[in-house]
Amino acid sequence: MSQGARRGGLRVCLATRNPGKVRELAALLEESPWQVLGPEALEGLEAPAEDGSSFEANARKKALHYSRLVRHLVMADDSGLEVEALGGQPGVRSARICGPSATDLDRMRWILSQLEKVPWEERDARFRCVIAFALRGEILASFEGEVEGRITFEPEGSAGFGYDPIFYYPPMDMTFAEMTAAEKDRVSHRGQALERAMGWLEDFARHLQTKSLKKGSSRRRGG
Ligand code: IMP
Repeated sequence: MSQGARRGGLRVCLATRNPGKVRELAALLEESPWQVLGPEALEGLEAPAEDGSSFEANARKKALHYSRLVRHLVMADDSGLEVEALGGQPGVRSARICGPSATDLDRMRWILSQLEKVPWEERDARFRCVIAFALRGEILASFEGEVEGRITFEPEGSAGFGYDPIFYYPPMDMTFAEMTAAEKDRVSHRGQALERAMGWLEDFARHLQTKSLKKGSSRRRGG
């Protein structure tokens, strides 16, 4: 039996081409009734401009945009790093702070150079994430998660993606890039947002299944 059939044909399309996000979101949805459709479902579709002034605005914009182009439930994640000593930068510009061709390493170096003279106790930062759901041009729900930490003096660890090697998480005394994927999922901004979304996702799955059962029985009765 295919995974889709086993899960009752419930499919959620991830509105992102970022492989790090896809990996994490798919792992977080592993135990849910939803089958995850990755970036292949977006192939050939134009990406929306991420020009909103908040994570919420961008997540909604991405979810809405793709929900007009695919027929499944769409889930969009907008996330980023806010560094206190930089007045909340890079924030919504986390993916683009050093221009379109910069790498994760370039962006980490930029932050470390900006914080060169900033002492440990003033290096507070947080990751934030908003996850929005949309279906056929309508936003259905959105959920937020955040996690507090500090920016290290050097990158540490090689797991994860993006700014993980410079984001130190005090309760576990390591950076996000030193954690296993499961450890990061338990505490991360994305893990928190998705945990808050789980109840809604389960209710929505039940709602869709009831709707399709009703449709099936009215068809059988010729209704
Ligand atoms: P966007 O949501 O596509 O605008 O991209 C968010 C950017 O924020 C990513 O490209 C990363 O640079 C950064 N980011 C978001 N979440 C994480 C995370 O969990 N770890 C490290 N960096 C992240």
